[in-house]
This record gives sequence, C-alpha cells and structure tokens, in this order.
Amino acid sequence: MIGKLNHVAIVVPDLEAATALYRDTLGATVSAPLALPGHGVTTVFVELPNTKIELLHPLGEDSPIRRFLESNRAGGIHHLCYEVEDILAARDRLHAAGARVLGDGEPKTGAHGKPVLFLHPKDFCGTLIELEQA
Ligand code: CO
Repeated sequence: MIGKLNHVAIVVPDLEAATALYRDTLGATVSAPLALPGHGVTTVFVELPNTKIELLHPLGEDSPIRRFLESNRAGGIHHLCYEVEDILAARDRLHAAGARVLGDGEPKTGAHGKPVLFLHPKDFCGTLIELEQA
C-alpha cells in the first residue's frame, strides 16, 4: 500500500543554522523558508535525489511541534511521510487493521497542498507516520 518515502521531517531549534548546515556542510539544495501558519510551522525543504528532508520550526504559540522541541532541545526526527495512491482507501484499511488515525480521521491538506493523514506512533514502532496522497 505505501509507496515512496516522500520526506523525513526534522524539528530544529534554529532554522537558519539548520539550513546552513544542510546547505554548506552537507552540500544539499535547500529552499527558502516557507511559513505555514495553518500548520503552525515554518519549513525549509532540503531536496535530495531520492527524497526530501523537511526542516520544521514552530510558528506561533499553538504550534503542534512546540512541545516536541521542549522535550528534544537539540531537535530530532519528528515523522516519516510515505506516499499512498488513495488516502481514503488507505485510511479504511488501517482502521480495519485496528490502527489509530490521528484527529477526526478525515484527510487534511498538508504542506504540499495534498491530502494527508497522521498515524499514531504507538501503533507504528514508535514513529509518527504521515501518509500523503501522491
Ligand atoms: Co510532513
């Protein structure tokens, strides 16, 4: 059911420093920062030949990643995003298997303008999983 790894998201305490690290030290192609107030994050995309890394920094007081950063002060891997062809079919299959879909179970529009869902980390080896309809 899952296809390509769309991105790995890393929460960082200093977005400028993290961008410089990926651009200058690791020699990757990085985007300009993109503020996504609806998601409570500012993001920088790191383009790799086979996938992307998303550097995430909290935006606003109610940012969903603020608490993560408080307990991971140096930053850390936040979630993995896998592509699926049909997000509603994927959700129904996961529900039938007893896996927990976060929120109300309805896909939201993600950072790339495509429908996404998040799956409970306790059901997936301690890893928060995002599914994005490719
Ligand atoms: Co993501």
